[in-house]
Amino acid sequence: EKGGWSSFMAKEISEEPEAIAKTLLGRITDGAVHVEELEPLRDSLAEINRIVILGCGTAAYSGMLAKYAIEKWAKIPVDVELSHEFRYRDPILDEKTLVISVSQSGETMDTLMAVKYAVDAGARTLSICNTQGATIPRESDAVMYTHAGPEVAVASTKAFVAQIAAFYLFALHLAAVRDTLTKREISGLLEELQALPDQLATVLEQHDKIKELAGWMVDTSAVLFLGRHAGFPVALEGALKLKELAYIHAEGFAAGELKHGPIALIEPGQPVFVVVPSPRGENSLHPKVVSNIQEIRARGARILAIAEQGDAAVLPYADVVIPIPLASTLFEPLLAVAPLQIFAMELAAAKGLDVDQPRNLAKSVTVE
Ligand code: F6R
Repeated sequence: EKGGWSSFMAKEISEEPEAIAKTLLGRITDGAVHVEELEPLRDSLAEINRIVILGCGTAAYSGMLAKYAIEKWAKIPVDVELSHEFRYRDPILDEKTLVISVSQSGETMDTLMAVKYAVDAGARTLSICNTQGATIPRESDAVMYTHAGPEVAVASTKAFVAQIAAFYLFALHLAAVRDTLTKREISGLLEELQALPDQLATVLEQHDKIKELAGWMVDTSAVLFLGRHAGFPVALEGALKLKELAYIHAEGFAAGELKHGPIALIEPGQPVFVVVPSPRGENSLHPKVVSNIQEIRARGARILAIAEQGDAAVLPYADVVIPIPLASTLFEPLLAVAPLQIFAMELAAAKGLDVDQPRNLAKSVTVE
């Protein structure tokens, strides 16, 4: 069943381009989003004034990216919350709130209980889920399935990129409903979304290079991950993968937070992955992240940069650069996360660990 791959995780990472393509399949026609599954929410989508996204772990990180996309494209305020924190703090919800839960398994108890709380409070509910007929979609007003295919490895990989693709489709649909983007802008963004599978396939070709890097780092005791804006959830996900799979202390930071504390951790030899924004990015974060790189490099950090192809500014400071193809800011995470997944997997494999079944973890967490 692993089809020649050494693990389900390796196979599932290789399936990421297809997972994105399948999630988009049949949902884009004539430069517009058509998702029939959203029909039950048709009236609500015009009336809501707020969105709350709920998930755990990797799923919650896809929700962070959804927040950036929905706020930018559809101009509705979005809060992202860990499901298990949500219902214990008297959250404010009403019929003008859309609660979107995101879950690969659709069975995560923390998320299920949070959705039930939202239903009782009168909110509208949408489930983004990878497992047909699971419990969370059944408890929700509508479900938009990700079509990543079954995910067997405990660590989530292809489901994550499919969740982001589904969220972006939803965000662009919402932008059409609420008239916050022109048809032309929407069709342009959809074209970029549809280009991602081929672009991601080229990133996956760097597997051997990343494996080699992981091989050099088997004795590493801590790794830091830095990102900013859309790169921040990628940094968090890179750190989570490394903890789960390789049992190495790993932490993801927003790059801007460095000077507020974490920079004290930098000592000579400390490996730091940096997700570098595009130098063409509309929000000019690139020079800021490059200067973060310079600061930590001056203190002896080893820089492992994930940067846009041809980004010459990082070259003088990086020990290793993993190039990704040109993409707009919000699409970069779909290209930047795979190298971090591969790194964690290969480092775990180099340590002789079972990458499909890390210790102490279960594929779906059905207890609170
Ligand atoms: C990380 C991972 C977990 C899950 C989390 C939510 O690799 O697998 O963090 O993402 O337990 O699971 P679902 O998406 O099934 O609700």
